[in-house]
Amino acid sequence: MIETVLVVGATGNIGVAAVKAALRTKRHVLAVVRNQTSADKLFKHVGVREGITTVEADVRSETGLQEVVDKAKAGKLPAFQHVYSTVGTMDMTSPIQNLSTSAFREVMSIAVESNYFAYRATVPYLIDQAKEDSTWTLMTGAAGTSGWAGVTAVAQGALFSLANVACRENAKTNIRFNEVYLACRVDYDSVAEGKGVISSSKFADNYEQILSRPDIKGCRVSVLKPEDIEELKFEKKLA
Ligand SMILES: NC(=O)c1ccc[n+]([C@@H]2O[C@H](COP(=O)([O-])OP(=O)(O)OC[C@H]3O[C@@H](n4cnc5c(N)ncnc54)[C@H](OP(=O)(O)O)[C@@H]3O)[C@@H](O)[C@H]2O)c1
Repeated sequence: MIETVLVVGATGNIGVAAVKAALRTKRHVLAVVRNQTSADKLFKHVGVREGITTVEADVRSETGLQEVVDKAKAGKLPAFQHVYSTVGTMDMTSPIQNLSTSAFREVMSIAVESNYFAYRATVPYLIDQAKEDSTWTLMTGAAGTSGWAGVTAVAQGALFSLANVACRENAKTNIRFNEVYLACRVDYDSVAEGKGVISSSKFADNYEQILSRPDIKGCRVSVLKPEDIEELKFEKKLA
């Protein structure tokens, strides 16, 4: 059976890397997109359409991802065994006391709620499917520990804790939950080229490895420098 990876935040720099990794490992991709423009952006940055099914959903709504899961259950979308979630946004306003309530809520809604809604909708589905070695991977950023990046950093702190809870609650399930903690800059291939930063294609190696390593469960996989992409640095999130 060909496995499928559901990628939430698929059109971003990191999402494109997750899609590329899934395709390279001969898996199919179910990519959540906002609309057709987003879907076109995805195909442009991934470079192929084959193996990718797109589904439009509002990741910020509490029902958006649940509707995707319901369609997969009903056979209207491919069944999936893996999830990579990487919805995010940036607001660098500093100092944070200058941030409006609506701007604060906007970042928390996009970066925290969307990833949580994806988690809440998909985990019961993966458990029900009972496939051995399903995976759930959450992207987080080192901004959350650095004290810079304003509310973007605050949102990362919430994601670190979400990952802790998820590692504990999935310790005895069929889901290998892991967090990828990234401290380097990753951009689409076309952007990375001119900037000398890591490309989505290169970063894809990291997820390829996570998919192939059943020993990595309940871990933070840290990418602090480019070499860490392939030589995985991981430790258990919880003692
Ligand atoms: N890139 C890096 O170097 C880096 C480093 C450390 C941590 N991270 C973390 O990784 C995550 C993703 O980063 P990225 O660079 O891939 O970000 P990105 O390129 O901006 O992509 C973010 C994703 O979230 C979606 N999104 C944003 N706002 C949305 C909204 N209002 N409604 C629906 N979807 C929305 C985007 O969809 P559209 O394409 O439709 O806008 C896209 O799929 C973030 O949490 C970031 O903090 C990234």
